[in-house]
Amino acid sequence: MRYAAFVKKVPKQIIIQMSGSKKSSPHRIRVAPAAQLRGDFQLPGDKSISHRSALFAAIGEGVSRLSNYSSARDCQSTLDCLEALGVKISREPELIVIEGAGLDGLSASARALDVGNSGSTIRMLSGILAGQNFTTEITGDESIRRRPMRRVIDPLTLMGARIEAREGGFAPLKIHGGNLKGVVYEPPVASAQVKSCALLAGLFADGVTTVIEKTPTRNHTEVMMRECGAAIEVAKTEEAEKISGERISAERISVTGRRPLGALGDYNVAGDLSSASFFIVAALIAPDAELRLRHIGVNPSRAALIDVLKSIGASIEIENPRVARGEPVADIFVRSSNLKGDLELYGATIANLIDEIPILAIAGARLDGRLTVRDARELRVKESDRIRSIVDNLRRMGVEVEEYDDGLRLRGEQRLLGASVDSFDDHRIAMAFAVAGLVAEGETEIVNAEAASVSLPEFYQLLVESGAEIK
Ligand code: S3P
Repeated sequence: MRYAAFVKKVPKQIIIQMSGSKKSSPHRIRVAPAAQLRGDFQLPGDKSISHRSALFAAIGEGVSRLSNYSSARDCQSTLDCLEALGVKISREPELIVIEGAGLDGLSASARALDVGNSGSTIRMLSGILAGQNFTTEITGDESIRRRPMRRVIDPLTLMGARIEAREGGFAPLKIHGGNLKGVVYEPPVASAQVKSCALLAGLFADGVTTVIEKTPTRNHTEVMMRECGAAIEVAKTEEAEKISGERISAERISVTGRRPLGALGDYNVAGDLSSASFFIVAALIAPDAELRLRHIGVNPSRAALIDVLKSIGASIEIENPRVARGEPVADIFVRSSNLKGDLELYGATIANLIDEIPILAIAGARLDGRLTVRDARELRVKESDRIRSIVDNLRRMGVEVEEYDDGLRLRGEQRLLGASVDSFDDHRIAMAFAVAGLVAEGETEIVNAEAASVSLPEFYQLLVESGAEIK
């Protein structure tokens, strides 16, 4: 392509490494206000798609070669777990090669699987483990052991697995799998992880497994199942559901089990829009900024961020839109903008941009208008209680913000004062507040800044390369 010469891949040597003893010495960084941002780069692969590509490659038949696989620590955890289940994986910096074991080729792990901080790994892999005729124990870090797992235990139990959990439905989980049967399941929460868990288990079940989804969530699993030749059908249901004033139609997603899956083959993972969101908002609110982000996944089931930002005056251009292996991809060009108007986020939109709410709160603090977020109770059970983390850090920076059980409200154009804020060991909080630091008065300190590695180890370095001053 004519622009290929400008595209920079993130050099691996600049990754901020996690220290093994982070609790005893939290990693602190200081962010100075930025005078200018300029950049033109490609981001590592989408975290959601990377997890799925590894899982499908592992249970497919034949070899898959995954390029632009996410450098996120979470996605490495998925590979670690698959290796423990006997899957052969070669990890080169630019290419992950996975020898598919087929539906029946996994073997029992000698030790408990450790997903680290990755909710996607524990929830989606549990679906696969429920289909195995052996027992697996699966757990993760402190945050994972606090996050609700009942939402996957319920459908898998209905399908015939037996799952032991800590009181209240928390990890560690002990999954006694095998002999699954297809069911019709309607998850009580809008969650792509839960949907994917049930559909993955459905691949191992007798008969048809159907998930009824009332609020649409990211559909990467469905797209990839088709790529692997699974017998999947997606149909709109008859009834339309009224959710917070929006009429949406529910979907029935059905997969027929016990059919061999093909390999993914040569598969290039689209760049991560959720990682891009931090650079997009940085460019919008920093002075004299222009950033071009190449080859970013813009699947409509999770790209509401772009329309939402445009609705408040953001200068965002979607260039070279294309579709690769069923996933929409584009380059994104962003410039400094005056953000204006009231932004109200609620209802079905929330599931579409659930991971972008921390950075949208920072955009909200720069908005000539009011930001209201409701119906976002799910944020309370993410890597941290994100409503609490956002509100606490914004207050430390001098912003008046109202906290609700299911969201928050703030008036934009308040002074944002440099302060010491905490990531609360949550990658998206670390990155959102580093961006806040670019437009605050004075220096902003981020405590436990290394949390960013959970999704984008290159984050601070890319900001520095774009002109930010970070020490
Ligand atoms: C994800 C789904 C979302 C999202 C998470 C990734 C996925 O979680 O927050 O970062 O890859 O399916 P929920 O399914 O819990 O909403």
